[in-house]
Amino acid sequence: MDVGTWAAWLEASSLGHWMRSSALAYPVANVLHLLGLVLLVGPIMILDCRLLGFARWLPLIETNALLTRWAMMGLTLLVVAGISMFAADAGPLASNSIMQLKLLLIAAGIANALLFRRLWQQRLASWDLNPPSLGRAQALCSMLIWLVVGTLGRWIAYA
Ligand code: HEM
Repeated sequence: MDVGTWAAWLEASSLGHWMRSSALAYPVANVLHLLGLVLLVGPIMILDCRLLGFARWLPLIETNALLTRWAMMGLTLLVVAGISMFAADAGPLASNSIMQLKLLLIAAGIANALLFRRLWQQRLASWDLNPPSLGRAQALCSMLIWLVVGTLGRWIAYA
């Protein structure tokens, strides 16, 4: 199934119908999407700053465990609410280049986070003594990616 067919199917689905016909469904999904944004971007920024060497008085292992949990909740909320809003207008959104770039960057952000876990999770205890340059570059990329994704999300309305 190509992207256009898949988008048409999603737009015609009962989820798409519901998001367009209910007075509350879209606004509620929008609010949940923004709540997800706050829960993802807030913790990620603090964690990435810590990984970059700021606020060293925060214990890294505990800070990482706590903030990763919140960020994952935020991302889950963003994806569920985002797909619901997408379904309301899937055809035009699927061919919108800002939306396409946003989805590509979300995939890059998730891949970066998974690779970070894979490479460095076990080495966080010695992070401050010998922080790996690649790991720090990943933390910086993570900050940039999620900020750009948020910006693109808002930009779609004006594209
Ligand atoms: C699979 C994941 C996602 C999907 C399908 C999705 C989809 C959408 C859609 C359809 C809109 C409404 C666009 C419009 O017509 O104006 C939107 C808005 C937005 N999205 Fe996402 N999104 C996703 C993930 C994210 C993530 C990870 C972020 C932030 C890091 C984000 C940030 C935003 C922002 C800031 C808005 C504007 C909200 C507003 O103006 O009220 N989205 N998203």
